[in-house]
Amino acid sequence: MLKKYYDADVNWAVIAEKTVAVIGYGSQGRAQAQNLRDSGLAVIVGVRPGKSFETASLDGFTVMPVCDAVAAADVVAMLVPDESAAEIFRRDVLPWTHDGQAIVFAHGFTIHYGQITPPPNLDIIMVAPKGVGPQVRRLYVEGSGAASLIAVHQDVTGHAKQTALAFAKGIGSARSVIMESTFADETETDLFGEQAVICGGVMNLMKAAYETLVAAGYEPEMAYFECMHSLKLIADLLYEGGFTKMHDSVSKTAGYGGLTRGPRMAGPETRAAMKEILAEIRSGAFAREWLLENLVNHPQYTSLVRLEKECGLEKAGEEVRRIISGGK
Ligand SMILES: NC(=O)c1ccc[n+]([C@@H]2O[C@H](COP(=O)([O-])OP(=O)(O)OC[C@H]3O[C@@H](n4cnc5c(N)ncnc54)[C@H](OP(=O)(O)O)[C@@H]3O)[C@@H](O)[C@H]2O)c1
Repeated sequence: MLKKYYDADVNWAVIAEKTVAVIGYGSQGRAQAQNLRDSGLAVIVGVRPGKSFETASLDGFTVMPVCDAVAAADVVAMLVPDESAAEIFRRDVLPWTHDGQAIVFAHGFTIHYGQITPPPNLDIIMVAPKGVGPQVRRLYVEGSGAASLIAVHQDVTGHAKQTALAFAKGIGSARSVIMESTFADETETDLFGEQAVICGGVMNLMKAAYETLVAAGYEPEMAYFECMHSLKLIADLLYEGGFTKMHDSVSKTAGYGGLTRGPRMAGPETRAAMKEILAEIRSGAFAREWLLENLVNHPQYTSLVRLEKECGLEKAGEEVRRIISGGK
C-alpha cells in the first residue's frame, strides 16, 4: 500500500517563506503557479518570450527568463514538456542553481530515464498531480484538490520529503490525498496507463468496434453514438463510484452483457500485448524511441495524428458533435 499523507502531516513552515519559480506556463504550470500563489507563496514564473510569457504576465505574475527565475528561487518547479526538460535543465537551469535548492518534477520521466543527472547539492523531488492542469486549478478553486504522488530522488537538505509534501499542499493536494511513490513507479505506471488504456487501448477498442458496426451495414452516426459518445457517461460513473456505481446506473441488460461478453475484449492476445508494452516501458525502449522522435521534429507522431484525424470514427464524431451542438 502507498503511504498516504493529509493536511495534518504537512509542515508548511518548510516552504512558507520560500520563493517558488514555476518554469513553464502550460497546462500544469499555469494551474500550479496560480494554486501556489493562492496558497500564500511567493511565486515567480520563468519562461521564454512568447504566448506563455504573455499569459503569465496577464495572470499577474512576475515573469522572467528561466535562468533569472532559477537564480531567484528556493524551489524550482520544472513544468516544461518532458521531451525538452533535459535541454532546458542543462542550458537554462543548472548553471543558476545553488546549494540546497529543491527541484520539483511533475512526472518522473527525465530523472528515471537518466535524461537529467542532477548534481549532488540539490534536493530532487516529484509532485505529480493525478489530473490535467485545468482540473488541478478547478478543484482548487472549488475548495478541494487533485490527489498527488510524491517521491524523493535526492535529499541533500534532510527535508526533501517535507518540501514535497508542502509543495503538494500548495497546489491543493492535501485537501484530497498525497501518496508516496518513487520516480520509477510513477513513470512506468503513468506511461503504461496512457498507452494501454487512456490514450491508446480505449481509442483502439472504440475504433475497432465502430469499424465492426459500419462494416456490418449500420449507419456511422449510430456506430459513433454507441462506440464513443456513450463512453463519457460511463467514464463519469466510473470516476464517481467505480464498477459498483456503473452497475447501479446502467440497465441490467447492459450490465449482464458487459459482464459476460466483456472479458473476450481482454483475452490472451490483449494481455500479451499489455506485457509487451510494459516491457518496452521498463527497458527504456519506449523512452528512447520517443526522445529520438523529438530530435527529428516528430515525423511519425505528426503522421499518426493526421491518420487518426482521417479515420471513420473521427469523421462521424465531428459530424454528430456539430449537429448535436446546434450546427447544421
Ligand atoms: N498535462 C498534464 O495534465 C500533466 C499531468 C501530470 C503531469 N504532467 C507533467 O507536467 C509537466 C509539464 O507538462 P505540461 O503538459 O504542463 O506541458 P505544456 O502544457 O506543454 O507546457 C509546457 C510549458 O513549457 C514551456 N516551454 C516549452 N519549451 C520551452 C523551452 N525550450 N524553454 C522554456 N519554456 C519552454 C512552454 O512555453 P511556450 O509557450 O514558450 O512553448 C509551456 O509554457 C511534464 O513533466 C508533464 O509530464 C502533465
